[in-house]
Amino acid sequence: MAHSLQTLHTFALTSQCQQFVKINNLEQLKTQSFKPPFCLLGEGSNTVFLNDYTGTVIKMATQGVQIKERANDYLISVAAGENWHQLVSELLAKNIPGLENLALIPGTVGAAPVQNIGAYGVELAKFVESVEYFDIANKTFNTLNNAQCEFGYRDSIFKHALKNKAVITTVHLALPKEWQPVLSYGPLQQLAAVTPQAVFEQVIATRNSKLPNPYTLPNAGSFFKNPIITNQCLAALLTTFADLPHYKHGAKHHKVAAGWLIEQAGLKGYRIAGIEVHKQQALVLVNYGQSQGSDLIAMIKHIQHSVFSRYNIMLEHEVRLINNSSECHITAEPTP
Ligand code: EPU
Repeated sequence: MAHSLQTLHTFALTSQCQQFVKINNLEQLKTQSFKPPFCLLGEGSNTVFLNDYTGTVIKMATQGVQIKERANDYLISVAAGENWHQLVSELLAKNIPGLENLALIPGTVGAAPVQNIGAYGVELAKFVESVEYFDIANKTFNTLNNAQCEFGYRDSIFKHALKNKAVITTVHLALPKEWQPVLSYGPLQQLAAVTPQAVFEQVIATRNSKLPNPYTLPNAGSFFKNPIITNQCLAALLTTFADLPHYKHGAKHHKVAAGWLIEQAGLKGYRIAGIEVHKQQALVLVNYGQSQGSDLIAMIKHIQHSVFSRYNIMLEHEVRLINNSSECHITAEPTP
């Protein structure tokens, strides 16, 4: 029977799915059918259902946090369905800091390794000891250590070799007892007293000032990835766009700020139906309602096209887009 997806993804398009299943315990996974098409979901904060989905949406809702004290760190084992921000807050309240730069990131713990969530100079990968997953084909539970997860910028093995093959069940995080604050991001350098709580509060204040709350104004966070370009391309761009924010990414590349590219292309506040380029942060698209998947696709292509014609960079969407039967990738034709 059709089930509404509007409240199951934070971009809140009015799509439906054919079947909806909630996984509350791991035993359920062994008997659950994974006949395609199916779509694994946490809180839907990085997934947009563009139209009605003909398959089964399987939401991971398992709960539980275990804390084990070791000589130099705490091992935190967290069930996939736990809310990420709640975990960060609860650990801080127990005097286990480390995750404060990642405060207020929407979504579940199980979704966090898939795109290697990151913010304000910290990525999840830094703390992952291992990830447990259910192997859909073999019906077994397996573990990957940090290196085996193949983490990259908003990337992991779960987007590649294990895509649609694994259900993340538990994430094990190692948080050192000796707190090492990461204060590289501008607003964190202004703190009067550097404590985990102060960093936590500053991150929350910064996010609240730029990023719309997905539960009050539907959105899916940063819509595009910050492009990674060669040092040579950067040098060429800087001759025309001297203010372009850029960050070193390995020896041969730089990451450039997609939000800046979009804003400077004059697109802040640009609207198609109810979808708007957010006025406080051009990398975020918001949905004021009365919008359809086709409006969002038109918006993505318009942004890609405008940015490409100005800077010769094709933006890649970071958000997972699901059409009627599978994930899809939107890329505008580069020529006008
Ligand atoms: N900028 C603009 N105009 C804009 C937006 C940004 O000029 O409209 C400039 C800023 O002034 C700044 C630079 O671009 O110089 C970077 O902006 P910001 O610090 O806001 O971060 P971001 O690169 O836009 C990334 C992550 C965010 C994360 C922040 C903070 C990606 C795709 N996004 O955004 O992650 O919170 O850094 O670390 O890497 C997410 O993934 O959903 C997300 C929100």
